Amino acid sequence: MNESNVKSRKRVAIVGATGYSGAELTAIMARHAEVELVALFSSSSTARGPVTPTLPQFIAEPFSIDALIAAQPEIVFLATPNEVSAGLAPQLLDLGMRVIDLSGAFRLEEPSMYPTWYGFDHERPNLLGEAVYGLTEYCNGELKNARLVANPGCYPTSILLALRPLTFAIDREQPVICDSKSGVSGAGKKADVNFSFAELFGNFKAYSVGQHRHEPEIRQQLHLGDRAPVVFVAHLLPVHRGILSTIHIGFTHPMSEQQITDAYTRAYDHAPFVRVLPAGQLPELKNVVNTPRAEIGFQLLHGGRRAVIVSVLDNLLKGAASQAVQNFNRMCGFPETEALI
Ligand SMILES: NC(=O)c1ccc[n+]([C@@H]2O[C@H](COP(=O)([O-])OP(=O)(O)OC[C@H]3O[C@@H](n4cnc5c(N)ncnc54)[C@H](OP(=O)(O)O)[C@@H]3O)[C@@H](O)[C@H]2O)c1
Repeated sequence: MNESNVKSRKRVAIVGATGYSGAELTAIMARHAEVELVALFSSSSTARGPVTPTLPQFIAEPFSIDALIAAQPEIVFLATPNEVSAGLAPQLLDLGMRVIDLSGAFRLEEPSMYPTWYGFDHERPNLLGEAVYGLTEYCNGELKNARLVANPGCYPTSILLALRPLTFAIDREQPVICDSKSGVSGAGKKADVNFSFAELFGNFKAYSVGQHRHEPEIRQQLHLGDRAPVVFVAHLLPVHRGILSTIHIGFTHPMSEQQITDAYTRAYDHAPFVRVLPAGQLPELKNVVNTPRAEIGFQLLHGGRRAVIVSVLDNLLKGAASQAVQNFNRMCGFPETEALI
């Protein structure tokens, strides 16, 4: 590559590069033709060293705001815990950087929901109105000029991709039941006995029913209105990665397979990372794990008055890092698939 190419490349930093999502992000961005990775950071308490043992060529530095400023990034990915992103993103925006945040710190529009669902008050609640919710397939021009992108949660991505094309036909008087199962990497790399091998192996359990912070995000982005009875139940699968959501909905009037297929085709015909299976075929985790793709299948029931929809993706990719790169590509005017296929 000649010097002018290098100069025109986007200067990118990743904070949280040593985490599960951050390491995926590092690996993807390292093969991005239009990017210069100018800095990778772990937390300030971790010594300088490889991002992960599998990526020994990428060295992460202990985080400090001075080191980040010195690297002069134009765009910063935050693959950090919610409170860390909430504190850091405003500082970076004030310095003129653009931010793609993989945490939930900027996903909810209503500031008063943060103490309840996330356990902290937002210091800069005005940014919640500015943040672009980066469910890429539903973003149009807004990513191009976005300063702050709130990358969606992994469970919400699987559910919203499955339901958004059908909201026009969903009966809001019947429960919309979203029964989702995630591999254990969804919890990040923190040490916790609940995520230990001994607790997970041979086990399967539901958790945080009625209290999971992805629930308000799903409600907000479904746009079904406050009264629609949406039920979200998360489960912990004894696998490393992948999410499978089984979603039960009723329709206001009987639907045909063709009508549902048409609705999905309208939504995703030009979406490079969403694949809708023929009616009656259901997707499986193994076909999407380690890919940036979501897959959706459906089965009509009860004369077309109800449907079961199954949606699968890799929580660390379409549920986190690869969706963040789709958003980055759109923000910078690069092909959406750059570095992803
Ligand atoms: N895991 C998923 O499937 C998934 C999916 C969608 C979104 N997310 C969200 O993405 C974010 C990252 O998730 P993850 O699962 O990748 O987390 P993780 O594996 O726990 O990694 C967290 C990263 O943040 C760094 N970090 C922690 N505190 C920091 C601080 N004060 N300053 C700078 N860096 C700090 C950690 O550095 P050390 O290595 O030094 O600890 C590590 O690199 C979270 O907000 C999570 O909710 C995760």
